[in-house]
Formats: sequence, structure tokens, C-alpha cells
Amino acid sequence: MKAIVFTEYGTPDVLKIKEVAKPTPKENEILVKVHATPVNYGDLTARNFANSQFNMPALLFLPARMAFGWNKPKINILGSELAGEVESVGKDVTKFKAGDQVFAYLGMNMGANAEYICLPESGTVALKPSNLSCEEASTLPYGAIMATSLLAKANLQRGQKVLINGASGGIGSMAVQLAKHFGAEVTGVCGTPRLEFVKSLGADKVIDYTKEDFTQNGETYDLIFDILGRSSFAKLKRSLKPNGIYLLASFKMKALLQMLWTSLTGSKQKVICAFANETAENLVFVKKLVEEGKVKAIVDKSFPMEQAAAAHRYVETGHKRGNVVITL
Ligand SMILES: NC(=O)c1ccc[n+]([C@@H]2O[C@H](COP(=O)([O-])OP(=O)(O)OC[C@H]3O[C@@H](n4cnc5c(N)ncnc54)[C@H](OP(=O)(O)O)[C@@H]3O)[C@@H](O)[C@H]2O)c1
Repeated sequence: MKAIVFTEYGTPDVLKIKEVAKPTPKENEILVKVHATPVNYGDLTARNFANSQFNMPALLFLPARMAFGWNKPKINILGSELAGEVESVGKDVTKFKAGDQVFAYLGMNMGANAEYICLPESGTVALKPSNLSCEEASTLPYGAIMATSLLAKANLQRGQKVLINGASGGIGSMAVQLAKHFGAEVTGVCGTPRLEFVKSLGADKVIDYTKEDFTQNGETYDLIFDILGRSSFAKLKRSLKPNGIYLLASFKMKALLQMLWTSLTGSKQKVICAFANETAENLVFVKKLVEEGKVKAIVDKSFPMEQAAAAHRYVETGHKRGNVVITL
């Protein structure tokens, strides 16, 4: 089978199409023919770990670099999410059968940039929404898992005011839609070319970060969800309501200490730094919303696997609209 393989860290040019062995499913695994696999933040980091911006506490850099591979990547096939069709199943598999259309999240195990992949049936995999193509469905797992599980940490209530900083990207575009679904009043922050897009996702208000600093406009929010961690608690305290939460998807040591401090001192305003929980339940939850027409999948651009490097270059600009997909 064909796969997009990389054997050294570097620019998108390290991605090469190669013939590799087609995997065979174990007793508890399903063999999936991959039709589509997006390029997300994790792919860029894993492809060029040595030179990527490390958006987590410095303490984690060493173990993360060891896990990824010090000089050379340990994982040679990227792709942390996919949609495709089950081709065959191991003898102990009960949840899926050949012909099922599925979507899945592989996290840092990766491997979806290949024509076939084996997944444990107990993994983060579910039947894909019936009303979407594989290309569309493949864009859901990353945003669904990150936005669903991180928003859950803030216990969002109907009628609350939420600001999403980074509303036009992979996580933000799903977070805007979910926060609206939960009944919140949503303000999305993004760059000028994507203001209309974020409005189309249901945001009640949009703020262009190149023209306005949301911490200076006198508005206050119950929740500020900062996807890239570009703001700071000190700066946005006055933009939080007295019981407001500052939720970060990307965070450094300082934000972790602020989380500890606001928790130990009983401060009413809280900082929450969290990693997402990767569960199939999050996929099933979003599948239902998509099938009910409450949430949509966003494909900015698609590239055939031969143009994987071009897909990475486009994502590297940092200004995609939702998601970018490689089709196989
Ligand atoms: N906690 C976890 O478990 C977890 C898991 C995975 C990833 N992450 C984090 O998620 C982040 C990636 O999120 P993503 O995939 O949604 O990224 P993305 O698709 O690249 O989206 C980035 C968003 O940030 C906006 N942005 C860019 N520059 C900005 C600025 N200067 N000020 C405010 N907003 C700005 C972009 O707006 P425009 O394009 O409109 O300019 C866009 O809306 C990474 O930093 C990673 O650490 C966390």
C-alpha cells in the first residue's frame, strides 16, 4: 500500500510517498481503508519537532522529545484523524463489520497518512455521520475531542457569555458551534479574513484581533477559552466576570501555577489548563449533532496524497479556515 512517510525531521519536503506493507488486523482490531485524513497541529509538531514552537510547559519538552525521537522521528507516518471504510475485522470484533464507514482519532500514535490502518475496536473510533462524505467526516475527530472535552471542564451553562480566542481554527470552529449548541452567547476572536466565516458558525459577535484587543473593550465573560494561549490571566482578569473561568488549550508553566493558585486560594475567578480526553463518546456525541444539523464539518481545502507537502505548507501559515484534508 502507499503511505506518506517521513524519516527525518524537517520542512514539508521530508514527506515522501512510499510503498509500505499493508497491515493485518489482530483479533480485536479493524482494518480501515483510509479515504481522508486532515493535517492538524499535531502533524506539524511531529514532522518538525526540533524546530516547532513548544506550546506546553518547558518541563514536558524533554520527555516529549524523547517520546517523538531525539534526532530522528520514531513515528514515520503522520495523521492523527481519519475517515474511511472498514475492510475486514479481527475474529473478536463485535462493534464493527466490513463495509462500515467510520471516523477515528489516533492521537499521538498517528499513522492515518496511509491507504490502510488497523485500529483496536475499543479505540477512539465510531460510525461516521451518515450525512457526511469521508472528507467532511475526517475533520471532526480532532475538533470534537478537543472542544467537547475542554469545554466540559468549564461546565458551561445556558445563557452564559463565552469568548473563544482562536475561533476560526480546528478547535475554535468546533468550540463556537458547541458553545452555541449549549445555549451560550458566543464571541469569536479571529483574523480579518475569517470574521464572516466565524459568524457563519453561529457566533453572536466577532472580534478581529488585528484591530481590537478584547481585553480593552469593557465586555465581561463567564468563560474565555484561549486556544493558542496568546492572552494572559493578568491581562484579561477584568474581562472575566467575578466567577469567570480562563480556560487554556495551550499553556505554559505560568498558567499552570495560576491554575494552582486560583484553586488553592479559593479565588472566584479560575484558571483551567487541561489536556483533552480522547474518547469514542465524544465522537458519538458530535456525530449525533451533525446528523441533526446542529454542527457542521468545515473543510477549507483538500489535497491529494501526492500533494501532502503543499497541504502542510498551507496549514503552516497558521490561518486555515477550520480544517485541511489529505485525500487518499
Ligand atoms: N490541550 C490539549 O489537549 C490540546 C490538544 C491539541 C492541541 N492543543 C493546542 O491547540 C493549539 C492548536 O489549535 P488549533 O488546531 O485550533 O489551531 P489552528 O487551527 O491553527 O487555529 C489557530 C487559531 O488561532 C487564531 N490566531 C492566530 N494568531 C492569533 C493571534 N495572534 N491572536 C489570536 N488568535 C490568533 C487563528 O485565527 P486566524 O487564522 O483567523 O488568524 C485561528 O483561529 C496548539 O497550540 C496546541 O497546543 C491542545
